[in-house]
Amino acid sequence: MQKAWWKESVVYQIYPRSFRDSNGDGIGDINGIIEKLDYLKGLGIDVIWLSPVYQSPNDDNGYDISDYQQIMNDFGTMEDWEKLLDEIHSRDMKLIMDLVVNHSSDEHYWFTESRKSKDNPYRDYYIWRPGKDGKEPNNWESTFSGSAWELDPVTDEYYLHIFSKKQPDLNWENPKLRQEIYDMMKWWLDKGIDGFRMDVINFISKVPELPDAPNPNGEKYVSGSRYFMNGPRIHEFLQEMHREVLAGYDIMTVGEMPGVNVEEATLYTNLERNELQMVFQFEHMDLDSAPGGKWNLKPLDLRDLKQSITKWQTGLHGVGWNSLYLNNHDQPRVVSRFGDDQHYRVESAKMLATFLHMLQGTPYIYQGEEIGMTNVRFESIDEYKDIEILNMYKEKVIDGNENPEKVMESIYVKGRDNARTPFQWNSNENAGFTTGEPWIKVNPNYKEINAESAVKDPNSIYHYYRELIQLRKKHEIIVYGDYQLLHPESQQDFSYLRTLNGKKLLVITNFTDKEIEWTLPENIDFTPKEKLIGNYPDNNSLEVTSINLRPYEAMVFLGE
Ligand code: NOJ
Repeated sequence: MQKAWWKESVVYQIYPRSFRDSNGDGIGDINGIIEKLDYLKGLGIDVIWLSPVYQSPNDDNGYDISDYQQIMNDFGTMEDWEKLLDEIHSRDMKLIMDLVVNHSSDEHYWFTESRKSKDNPYRDYYIWRPGKDGKEPNNWESTFSGSAWELDPVTDEYYLHIFSKKQPDLNWENPKLRQEIYDMMKWWLDKGIDGFRMDVINFISKVPELPDAPNPNGEKYVSGSRYFMNGPRIHEFLQEMHREVLAGYDIMTVGEMPGVNVEEATLYTNLERNELQMVFQFEHMDLDSAPGGKWNLKPLDLRDLKQSITKWQTGLHGVGWNSLYLNNHDQPRVVSRFGDDQHYRVESAKMLATFLHMLQGTPYIYQGEEIGMTNVRFESIDEYKDIEILNMYKEKVIDGNENPEKVMESIYVKGRDNARTPFQWNSNENAGFTTGEPWIKVNPNYKEINAESAVKDPNSIYHYYRELIQLRKKHEIIVYGDYQLLHPESQQDFSYLRTLNGKKLLVITNFTDKEIEWTLPENIDFTPKEKLIGNYPDNNSLEVTSINLRPYEAMVFLGE
């Protein structure tokens, strides 16, 4: 397999608004990040992915960009950002920036021009259509509830917005628009950044007719995703972007791709095709949703997780590359989701980390994951800030007649604000995040869960992550070895074997809060030589034929 630095790296995602506020305005900022770089270096990460820091009216916390080449006032200045890049590089880490080019803000100059008249030179930078029979051009639903179309009174036409109405979709059919984006990307690369995380990049090519989506139940709006996910020109656009921009730089690229499957992901990430290096796929994040979407809760069946992970591990091996993640700014906290944040918070957080970090792919750690931050339950909907949550609540409870308690319960389990509460630095007021009033409330468990105590405690989740990162650097089998699932039918343990050049790595994890008996399958030939890591520190036995695993116990053995 072709080796590459971005396959061997561990990435840490920063959501700047919630990371560290240096000036007391209640909003995280760039100087706050600079203050904490030594903490990140101490963790051992290689690359920082910065969620958007560009100029934005913050309808979707920076994922609605009004100027791609300016820094958001809340976060600081371009000089601050340049200092950040220097400070990151001087610590021998890298920086990748978020690239949000499926849509811009409606306050971007391109859009304020575009909406002025049908013959404005920027009109074709966006997707405009006349109404159909006095209604929207088609029946597509916005990801953030309601129609995906907004009528603009100035020209009496609708524009498409797959996300909020302040996030109009850019028209990638227009070569001038594409060129502007490529120029902007080069401008950032020439400033010395080390790559891009590309927001919903597999949405940029739409089926040009924009047809109605099938609607068997006669709903008002339905998902039109089949007409824009992995659309007809997507590979052509990415290959053009590669030719025009990416090929000239030694950088890392990761495409966020809802709805991508293994076959498509192979096309996107096979290096010979000159598109991207890896994807963020969502299959494993959708397993606890019933049909009808993320708010319809369903417990995770471990066999589904195994099936999904195994399909991706084996499907991309040698032909593409994947990213490994269980958390980001859009997902609830994994220790609350697939672990037990009440009785086994530390054990289950370490178990989940072991499970993920021993797989093939580039691991991503989302801020706070490394100290086991948990979901939050705010009493009132008014304490929530996320546009997705607020629009959904309005549609279901205020405009609809769904039970508010049931809807709040789904927000507690799945809401994006679970990931966006301020980083818990210490046990001081506001968890040391800000001296002012935080833009979103701090999780009340910060006195117990915070970075300062985690760094001091050698048995903390934080130190366990450090060890996992070091193991990846030391043993190339973790990066390049192949993968075999053990016990596919068990609903209790997730165990797998990795192999590289005659060496083997056995990974055993108990996903339950019970003691379970674990046995090595008879057809597996494995002689342990060394226990690399385990989340119950007292256990150093090399016995692997039959083990009593304690609740959420995880262990990794190197052998032959
Ligand atoms: C995916 C981002 O991760 C999410 O936070 C955002 O709301 C949408 N794309 C729209 O940009």
